[in-house]
This record gives sequence, structure tokens and C-alpha cells, in this order.
Amino acid sequence: MKKVNIAIDGPAGAGKSSISKEVAKRLGIVYVDTGAMYRACAVYALENGIEISQEAIIPHLGDIKIDINYNENGQQIILNGKDVSDRIREQDATIGSSKIAVIPEVRLKLVELQRSLAESKSVIMDGRDIGTYVLPNADLKIFLTASVAERARRRFLEMQQKGMECDIKDVERDIEFRDKNDSEREFAPLRCAEDAVLIDSSDLNFDEVCDKIYDMVKKIL
Ligand code: DC
Repeated sequence: MKKVNIAIDGPAGAGKSSISKEVAKRLGIVYVDTGAMYRACAVYALENGIEISQEAIIPHLGDIKIDINYNENGQQIILNGKDVSDRIREQDATIGSSKIAVIPEVRLKLVELQRSLAESKSVIMDGRDIGTYVLPNADLKIFLTASVAERARRRFLEMQQKGMECDIKDVERDIEFRDKNDSEREFAPLRCAEDAVLIDSSDLNFDEVCDKIYDMVKKIL
């Protein structure tokens, strides 16, 4: 199979990661979750009592080492030798990741890692700036979105299934906070690339979105 790089961007809760994971599985290629990298940086700051601000973070950037392992359970995210795959999903890491993602020096460090992962192999990479900044020459770019209410509803159900206590209003507020932070930052903000295919999944189910993307990739191949 020829090497392909697929970029999936969109706001928080649009279903990018579960859809990317499924399409990657069908195609037999690697899924790269770039949000997990921003989350891991936030966990480093939180666990080391470092304020999430540009001045406070920059001196520590060299101490943050992120590795990605792939096994039968999918992607494992390793922060300085420790598996933080579950820790990065906690609420403080979610909010922290959106704050840390506005710092250009953090982005440059992670973008280097993201590009190196895509260089040698076929990947489906999800994030906010993959089609616009990280992989501008990606073979296929998708911008996946859905209404705030629908994204909050899905996230809420997912959290309930995991036994996490939450209020749908809080989930909606978090999503709005992150949408604003992600799209208003100066460096590589969230936006749809000019050559991306826009998919609004508000009225599509999981399989319909996966099939759409899978069919587009098959055409390229
Ligand atoms: O996709 P996610 O919710 O795991 O991402 C966590 C945060 O990281 C999100 O608020 C925005 C940021 N992010 C980013 O700025 N650029 C990316 N390529 C991926 C994530």
C-alpha cells in the first residue's frame, strides 16, 4: 500500500479520536492522537507544581520527554518513562492542555515529534492544526465538527459510561471554553484548511462518518 498521511481536525468532542482510531484499524495504519501530547505536557506541569504560563513552562521544556508506544490496546502515552494514558484524561489535564496549547514553544516541540511520526509511515493524525500546520501536504484533510449541544451530549454519555460523575452543563461549558481557546490563539489556531473536506457529524452516526472517510481514503489509494 502506498504511504498516506491523513489529517483529521476539528473542535473538542467532535468524535475525531474514536473515528480516527476506527478508520486507522480498517486501513491497518497508525493512529496518532496529538491532543494526548498536549495533555501529557499539562500533566507534567500539574504534577511538578509548574504554573501553566509561557514564562513558567519554557525553562522546563527540555525536561519533558514524551514517547508513544503502540500495542494491541492502541496508543500508550509515556511521560518521562511513566504511562500516563489514563491520567491525561482527567479534568485538570483537559483544561490544562488547552491552556498549554497556546504556548508556541510547546507547540513547536510537539509538532517536531508529530512530523517525525508521519514521515516514515502511513498515519491518520488527529488534532486542531494538522491540515493547516503540521502536515500541510497531507493526502487527505478532514475537518470534523458537530454542534456544541451534540458534542456535549456525546461527551457526557461517554463519561457516564466510564462511571465518571459529571453535569452536562459543565461538559458544555468546558467545550465552549476549549473551542474559544483553541480557535482564538495566535499560533496555529483551530480552523478548517482550505483544501479540507468538511464533515458535520451532528446528524450522522459513528459508522456513517467512518465509512465516508474510509471511502475517501480508498479512492486516493
Ligand atoms: O483533542 P484533545 O481534546 O485531546 O486535545 C487537548 C487539547 O490540546 C485541546 O484543548 C487543544 C489542544 N490541541 C491542540 O492545540 N493542537 C492539537 N493538534 C491537538 C490538541
